[in-house]
Amino acid sequence: MIQSPRGTKDILPSTINAWQQLEDTFRRVSTLFGYQEIRTPIFENTEVFMRTIGENTDVVGKEMYTFPDKGGDSMTLRPEMTASVARAVVQHNLTATNPLQRLWYVGEFFRYERPQKGRYRQFHQFGAECIGSAAPEADVEVILLVAKLLSDIGLKEFSLEINTLANREVRILYREKLVEYLIEQKSSLSPESQERLDKNPLRVLDSKHPLDRVAIESAPTILEYLDDESALHFATVQNLLTIAGINFTISPRLVRGLDYYSHTVFEFVSTALGAQSALGGGGRYNDMFEEFGGKHTPAVGFAMGIERILMILEQTNPTLYKQNTPDVMMITLENESYPFSQTIAQLLRNDGISTVMDVQGRSLKAQMREADRLGAAITIIIGENERTSGQLTVKNMKTGMQETATQENIIEIVQKMLRLS
Ligand code: HAM
Repeated sequence: MIQSPRGTKDILPSTINAWQQLEDTFRRVSTLFGYQEIRTPIFENTEVFMRTIGENTDVVGKEMYTFPDKGGDSMTLRPEMTASVARAVVQHNLTATNPLQRLWYVGEFFRYERPQKGRYRQFHQFGAECIGSAAPEADVEVILLVAKLLSDIGLKEFSLEINTLANREVRILYREKLVEYLIEQKSSLSPESQERLDKNPLRVLDSKHPLDRVAIESAPTILEYLDDESALHFATVQNLLTIAGINFTISPRLVRGLDYYSHTVFEFVSTALGAQSALGGGGRYNDMFEEFGGKHTPAVGFAMGIERILMILEQTNPTLYKQNTPDVMMITLENESYPFSQTIAQLLRNDGISTVMDVQGRSLKAQMREADRLGAAITIIIGENERTSGQLTVKNMKTGMQETATQENIIEIVQKMLRLS
């Protein structure tokens, strides 16, 4: 049997209701905050990600699905959306009409990672980007959007961690200090961290390897090196979050896995998930738009992993997984009755009442069993009698109560029965 590729998942009807409800919430909450949806291609020129995410990150260095297309151009399945959004904003000069762009998105992303619970090669993100403001108020706006979203989907098992990666000058200085410190510790570090020390030293702080714990705990933090601008930005973010009643912890070693960040970075961490506990994260990126030939455009955004949110909701909110059930099942007793049965079904559907019919010519018993299995609230039996007399029997499947209707008042009777059931 051919199976779906490793690290990918089919989303089957049994879980689709949860996905759709989440997506509805994303749409509603984004709109509440004045964000508009953007959709971009699933693949981009490889350069889009190389230039922004950073060649020495795991995402670009190890995880991208990159291939030459038939014309010989290098293409990549998008591993994230921020770079694609920036590319699109520059390409369509969106900031010319409105210098502040508030955009949101939902879709599938691709990273060639080692699959495990909560980590896939094709996964889904919901995210938003606030483009065109350097102010800390914008950082807080996107965090408030995530907080509202999580609260509206009934997810309480998370904490918010924040940090600052400061401006470029501070970051360069801090990087030097960190490298000086880590070089002294080099022999005790894990092999991965020794490698990262050369390529991407800030990422050593992210290591979960037991060998690295001691060195990381005593490492200098960026907070010790902040200049006035970076300190003020970070303090304002904290102040506004406090005023908004959002709990957070400062996590001076939070560096994130993508290279484009400056100033605020944050992560929503689940207290209910195992190793893959990052529900979502984001931060400020002020230097991305120049990479696409745009003018300097400060921006901030986040993305949440939908699979990880659903892993928690599966435990805490199983009603989200309830499958859709039809309002009515037409029970058709013989072939000659199909046209009439279909007419009634169309009448009901046109009024917004979901109605299914048997399309396999099955027996009365089999059709009743099917109605049960589908969870239809009502059945309407159509046989020769009904067809000739025009008198229809409408049955409430829960109470067993029956009512007689005609083609003229069937909608009224079904609506009333649905209200009562
Ligand atoms: P990220 O931290 O790389 O950020 O991804 C955001 C979230 O996507 C993660 O916290 C996680 O929940 C989910 N995720 C990432 N990789 C996987 C995977 N292999 N399987 C399942 N879930 C995964 C970004 O992507 C940035 N673009 C966020 C951002 C937006 N920063 C500024 N604007």
